[in-house]
Amino acid sequence: MSPEPYLLPNGRVLRYSFHERLVHWLAAISYLYLLLTGLAFWSPWLFWIAIVLGGATISRELHPWAGVVFVIGVLLMYRMWGKQMKETPADKEWWAAIGHYIRNEDDKMPSADRFNPGQKLLFWGFLVNGILLLLSGLILWLPQYIPWGLRFLRLTAVLVHPICALLTIALFIVHVYMGTAMERGAFASVIRGDVSRAWADHHHHTWYQQLVRESSVKK
Ligand code: HEM
Repeated sequence: MSPEPYLLPNGRVLRYSFHERLVHWLAAISYLYLLLTGLAFWSPWLFWIAIVLGGATISRELHPWAGVVFVIGVLLMYRMWGKQMKETPADKEWWAAIGHYIRNEDDKMPSADRFNPGQKLLFWGFLVNGILLLLSGLILWLPQYIPWGLRFLRLTAVLVHPICALLTIALFIVHVYMGTAMERGAFASVIRGDVSRAWADHHHHTWYQQLVRESSVKK
């Protein structure tokens, strides 16, 4: 599996290995395609997106397959990050102090591990909603295989699919805003893989201190 992040010889910190970045962008790019084509199917006002993306037929054909790719990406994320995303007792303190986080008073926040509780919430949100989107999407994709006696499943799928999509859109907007505009340096970590020591210490103090301790034990 992916190697543990470590302190690099150039004085920086490896936050995401190549494997982790690859999986992240597999999920992110497939999600972007799902988002755009899904919005095109959802509202006639947005149908032009499907035209821009190659036409209605191609968008309709590829949307479910992109869904399969997205869920594979999310399941791979679960395999590499699932353990680190579990809730810890320290997370409760972090949530209790969320007001400081929102007001950008980072110095008043309890120290975070490799992933802070907000990032954990995003992870579980994408995992649960991704699976529900796939299950409801399968029913919408292949309705001919749903027996007549189970036709309520079709109605359920028509409701579950857009609700879960809207939930992921909310997560996605917050995630992209946080990762690009709010936490300077975070975006480079999913491109190049590394962050400065100051960034790691500031945003993920518990994690960074653990890396420093481990590296001094090895020396
Ligand atoms: C295309 C838009 C996206 C951008 C610009 C983006 C950006 C980022 C950035 C900058 C990080 C590193 C954050 C940090 O370590 O502090 C990150 C991590 C992560 N991303 Fe994305 N991402 C995108 C799409 C997605 C999608 C669609 C998913 C859904 C599966 C996702 C799931 C995650 C997860 C689980 C992490 C690790 C925990 C976290 O930072 O929230 N990302 N992403």
